[in-house]
Amino acid sequence: MKKRILVTGRLPGKIITSLSKRFQAEINMEDRPFNRQKLLHRIKDKDGLLSMITDDVNEEVLSKANQLKMIAQFGVGYNNIDVLAATKLGIPVSNTPGVLTDATAELAFALILAISRRLVEGDRMTREGRFRWWAPMLFLGSEVTGKTLGVIGMGKIGKAVAQRANCFNMPILYHNRARINVSEETELMAKYVDMKTLLSRSDFISLHVPLSDETRHLIGSRELSLMKPTAYLINTSRGPVVDEKALLQALRKKKIGGAGLDVYENEPALTPGLAELDNVVLLPHVGSGTLETRFRMAAMAAGNLITGLNGKVPPNLVNPDVLSHQRL
Ligand code: DGY
Repeated sequence: MKKRILVTGRLPGKIITSLSKRFQAEINMEDRPFNRQKLLHRIKDKDGLLSMITDDVNEEVLSKANQLKMIAQFGVGYNNIDVLAATKLGIPVSNTPGVLTDATAELAFALILAISRRLVEGDRMTREGRFRWWAPMLFLGSEVTGKTLGVIGMGKIGKAVAQRANCFNMPILYHNRARINVSEETELMAKYVDMKTLLSRSDFISLHVPLSDETRHLIGSRELSLMKPTAYLINTSRGPVVDEKALLQALRKKKIGGAGLDVYENEPALTPGLAELDNVVLLPHVGSGTLETRFRMAAMAAGNLITGLNGKVPPNLVNPDVLSHQRL
């Protein structure tokens, strides 16, 4: 009998076809997440789950999933999954690292340019017919070239952002749990500094850390107060890394230059007042949102699911401890 899988989001057609040939697949074809009740109900008889960031795969969900043998997350971040609980239950969990690095770095850079050159404000003004004539002081932004970029979290995506910043002759400061090796620092022209130095010297600060207990509210009112009044904060990582209420205050009072956000603390809800400000650019969590990348993520997640359900170790396993007590 074919194994049963639950795919909680609509994936590119080819991947769905190939998964449907191998498995008895239940697929959420609506472009909205399953609500809690649906997820709890549908997971019950499934051997495999291909999950999205919008699924809260917590202990309750896992306790209903008596048959579950593999969770393949569609995404590099997997903070929506209680990995510890899955590990205890012997369920391997995988993610999709690497394939979304360039797309996410591109988006971080798009936000850097959009907020500093006031692209969204300018577009709005032009559409609304308020562009009446050119003038030397009209709509001035802040130049990116030569400005200092602070990268918090120098993993794959942080490094890809630094590479792009090199083309803009931006000096790069970075902070990370551990220093990267010296040859990489030299290649990226990046200098390791403590958080305080990074916050106070950077003109742009781009966040590239995973969400964990240590990184929740990594940027709060104290950190924002250390930033230059002209500096911009860019977040393409996870919303709760920034204390959004503190950010709102800093933006309202013009304590910093502005922010470019792709992710939110209580996604998809925004802190009330944020959407009314001009000094912030707001995107709907589309860091990895290119056709090419979403296809690669889907292929990778499907590959992990198939391998895991074949009883083998999936290539992108995030909980290797599970191998000692895997459900087969
Ligand atoms: C990721 O892969 O973590 C993206 O943010 C999409 O969830």
